Amino acid sequence: MPEVDITKLSPRQIPSVSYTIQNMWISISAMTFAMASFFFTLCVVLPLSMTRFFIPIDKLSMPETETKKAVLIIGASRGIGFNILKQYIDEPDTAIVATSRSIETVRSMAIELGDTVADLRCAELDLSGTRKQVSEAIKSLDRQYGPFSHVYEVSGISNHVKDHGVWGLDITGEMISVNVAGTVASVLSMYDLMKGRGYGKICVVGSIAGLYSPANMISYASTKAFVNNFCTSLRILAAPTGVDVITVQPGFIDTRMTKHMRNQGSTVPGTEFGEPEGLAEQMKAAMEDGGRGIVNWPVRQGVVAYGLQAMNPSS
Ligand SMILES: NC(=O)c1ccc[n+]([C@@H]2O[C@H](COP(=O)([O-])OP(=O)(O)OC[C@H]3O[C@@H](n4cnc5c(N)ncnc54)[C@H](OP(=O)(O)O)[C@@H]3O)[C@@H](O)[C@H]2O)c1
Repeated sequence: MPEVDITKLSPRQIPSVSYTIQNMWISISAMTFAMASFFFTLCVVLPLSMTRFFIPIDKLSMPETETKKAVLIIGASRGIGFNILKQYIDEPDTAIVATSRSIETVRSMAIELGDTVADLRCAELDLSGTRKQVSEAIKSLDRQYGPFSHVYEVSGISNHVKDHGVWGLDITGEMISVNVAGTVASVLSMYDLMKGRGYGKICVVGSIAGLYSPANMISYASTKAFVNNFCTSLRILAAPTGVDVITVQPGFIDTRMTKHMRNQGSTVPGTEFGEPEGLAEQMKAAMEDGGRGIVNWPVRQGVVAYGLQAMNPSS
């Protein structure tokens, strides 16, 4: 294949005048909606949010007949999922089911934790299975240990997990299978069960990479863009059914996933990596207290990623 010098701009790549003007209109439109949104938030949402200081907020939307909190964590063996688990282990009257791709990994994590106040069980759940397998596994766990009041879908894979991981058909297919198909199968199976009962909380981990789509994360960022969009829409559709859906869009968090990225020469400064404990605290607060559709953490990175969405398509 002939080598292409990407530093040289071909005349074909210079944007046309009509395309450039279209992009300027897009920028004007983005500024107009951003201003309208800012003033609506300032004048309507901010005063409304202040009423939370004066009215008691229900911690759980569970019926009074259910006394035990039952929490399912998908991807609890390490990283962010493990830190969610640690948020619940000291709670009495709580059952936790911690799952991961392999039962050995999740069991060795539980052994390391030692005795817990909450009733902790381990199970295997591989999100790369077929839609039917994942759905049956979720229903079976709910029958055995549920009904689940809380579900955290944290599992995910990225390009950085394998040392030589670049991108292409195989790696993209694997990521679609776990991050998209597996996530949708587990979340919708759980949603159907919770909808029938009229209560429940579902928290799903997307990513800020899905907001601004960095080209060097083409496959991962695309799967996470799907998760971000799917779950923010599901929150609206689920609202009348009594099921609360929260989307998490983490920035850079210090876990196995990003350790590989750093080993591969990532230029992101070490100070930018947030601790998974901090994110887990934010996720639990959003699940327990409500009133938050999206969790961005570290907040500064989320703010920048949303701002980057306003860049016009030729930038
Ligand atoms: N770290 C970050 O900076 C960052 C940023 C944005 C979003 N996220 C997202 O946060 C989530 C957790 O990431 P992390 O950083 O905590 O990564 P991690 O430390 O690599 O943990 C990933 C978890 O997913 C599980 N998993 C992987 N493949 C699976 C499969 N086929 N079926 C079921 N479970 C599977 C793993 O289980 P095993 O231990 O059995 O492999 C592990 O529990 C992911 O969805 C990731 O995309 C992370």
